[in-house]
Amino acid sequence: MSKLKIAIQKKGRLSENSHRLLEECGIKFSNGTDVLKTSAVNFPVEILFLRDDDIPQYVEQQVADIGILGENMVFEKNKDVTVLEQLGFAHCRLSLAIPKESTFTGPGYFMNKKIATSYPRLLSEYLKENNITAEIEEISGSVEIAPGIGLADAVCDIVSSGSTLMTNGLCEVSSILKSQAVIISNKNLDNNKQGILDKLLFRIRAVKNAKENKYILLNAPLEALHEICRILPGVKSPTILPLEEKGWCSIHSVVKEDEFWDRINQLKNAGAEGILVIPIEKMIL
Ligand code: PRP
Ligand code: ZN
Repeated sequence: MSKLKIAIQKKGRLSENSHRLLEECGIKFSNGTDVLKTSAVNFPVEILFLRDDDIPQYVEQQVADIGILGENMVFEKNKDVTVLEQLGFAHCRLSLAIPKESTFTGPGYFMNKKIATSYPRLLSEYLKENNITAEIEEISGSVEIAPGIGLADAVCDIVSSGSTLMTNGLCEVSSILKSQAVIISNKNLDNNKQGILDKLLFRIRAVKNAKENKYILLNAPLEALHEICRILPGVKSPTILPLEEKGWCSIHSVVKEDEFWDRINQLKNAGAEGILVIPIEKMIL
């Protein structure tokens, strides 16, 4: 039986998190710094370490069956692949930036200017939509130094923390696209590979759900029970256990990470005490 071939980024913004995601799915593999390929010891997959820029093409050609990479690359390369799932890491945006001493006047600023980018397709779409004629200077790396060395007037590149722009004296003026890591697949997987992929996706979703939720325990007076269960609906409904002290109970539930701080305040106001919040390792819905 052949193994499912997974392409991940060899070195860069996504590589550490991609590696960690597979490990959290219980997949064990070794990753020497100069190997291009390795097999998992406990799951029928092979990992290929590639440049993220090449992953869409390799997945289309089935050099790899699936790949983990940023949506930015998927959209730029526009290959015939299926996007299966957003993975919730490597959030960034594709933005236009100009030297910080210039005054931005809106999209018209770029009229007849020269813009350096590794994203010629997405940039030309943006320019077309805004009826701007500009020259696109395609370069594959270190785009941000282009204005400083007189190669271009502006850049169109990935911004995550913004520190690369800042160190190069550039100011972000317009955002073209938001991006995060996704998993993509070839469109013609055979049944064996599709079966392995389904198992992997099941694990990835369990890991993702776990990250997006927290387990919460608290003590509450019985008269607050109804209100607290309303604030904490849980997966099905909260677990309620009696406390030794009369008139009190312990409530266990699950709360979404992004709603967490709001809920904590509401719970305290409703009379909750001794609130404990615990990370969840895997969550199967
Ligand atoms: C991008 C971009 C910048 C950096 C910005 O590189 O080219 O170098 O991230 O991040 P910051 O805002 O946190 O400083 P990326 O890893 O996407 O590109 P690559 O795969 O071409 O190296
Ligand atoms: Zn890259």
